Amino acid sequence: MTKKTVTVFAATGTAGRACVEEMIRLGTVNVRVLARKSGQAEKITSGVARDADDKQRLQAGWRDSGVAITEVDATNHTELMSVLQGTDYLVSCVPTGGTEAQYPLIWAAKEACVERFVLSECGAICEFEQFCPTDTVHRTWARQKAFIRRVIELAGLDVTIIPAGLWPEYYMLEPVRVMGDLDRKVSWSTGRDVGRIIPHVLSHPLSRNAICPVSATAYCSWDELLAIRESALGRKVARNDLTSEQWKAIYAQQPPGRLKCSAAIGVACSEGAEGMSLFANWNGTFLPEFIGTPLPQLFIETIEPFVSARRNALVASGELPAT
Ligand SMILES: NC(=O)c1ccc[n+]([C@@H]2O[C@H](COP(=O)([O-])OP(=O)(O)OC[C@H]3O[C@@H](n4cnc5c(N)ncnc54)[C@H](OP(=O)(O)O)[C@@H]3O)[C@@H](O)[C@H]2O)c1
Repeated sequence: MTKKTVTVFAATGTAGRACVEEMIRLGTVNVRVLARKSGQAEKITSGVARDADDKQRLQAGWRDSGVAITEVDATNHTELMSVLQGTDYLVSCVPTGGTEAQYPLIWAAKEACVERFVLSECGAICEFEQFCPTDTVHRTWARQKAFIRRVIELAGLDVTIIPAGLWPEYYMLEPVRVMGDLDRKVSWSTGRDVGRIIPHVLSHPLSRNAICPVSATAYCSWDELLAIRESALGRKVARNDLTSEQWKAIYAQQPPGRLKCSAAIGVACSEGAEGMSLFANWNGTFLPEFIGTPLPQLFIETIEPFVSARRNALVASGELPAT
């Protein structure tokens, strides 16, 4: 069977790089990368700046592994159209706040006869989240992502949406603010597992024109997750179990910034209507062979360093007090 060609946009981000590296490891598709040469301000979901040379090192390694990397002005659909010729699946991993960068890609993908567009989502299920009762910045993003899905469909492209739940590293700053029902299962997907699972989802026939809400790392309750963290760290983890009303009050008081975005996610997770879970475990049913990073290892190697870097960045920006 001929190999599909998969092109990744925003490939040097957390999800993007893991997706590229997993495809190299699997060797089942031809891998291409779009490298942005200009046009958009640099955005990053975590707010923790990356080493400027990091991208070049990454790309050099990918080239050595046979990845075709093309520099493109990602705001210019004429350039995009020619670069996308021959692409079967276009995977977008744009950061939070970079959603609008996908509009020129959709048009160019249609003109270049790309078969499928994989929208950057990687959070909760926007088709539900867009109808959360409380108006927050997060609901606005969910509404935009749901709208972009319609644009992709209007363009006649197949679409795959991969909601991935909560990236645990973003919600572990102490005291941990627990979102919603303590016993209800939540999808947890660390950024690297989000990227890793993308090619596995795409290789499944049921992912065509589908929403595939994964739990790439774990599908468990807040209580279960925090118990594993305490055991990995060998100490109690400070936590606040917050009701929906408390989340709304925090959101209302929080000045704009990353903590307000987290509070908006807290509102969404704690006020969901019965029967409209924002989370699911598609991979548990359809990709049982996919193994996410074991939680004890994840806490030590990834989450704790991430929490510490995030705390420092929030202190530096004045969003958190220095103590
Ligand atoms: N649910 C959660 O808890 C959670 C947490 C984090 C992220 N997410 C979601 O996961 C998805 C991917 O996020 P991520 O954290 O992997 O992203 P990220 O690491 O912040 O992505 C950064 C990369 O995006 C590209 N980029 C930078 N500015 C851009 C712009 N203005 N327009 C287009 N591309 C730009 C750059 O790659 P190039 O220079 O190579 O193009 C950069 O390396 C997003 O949809 C985000 O909302 C969810």
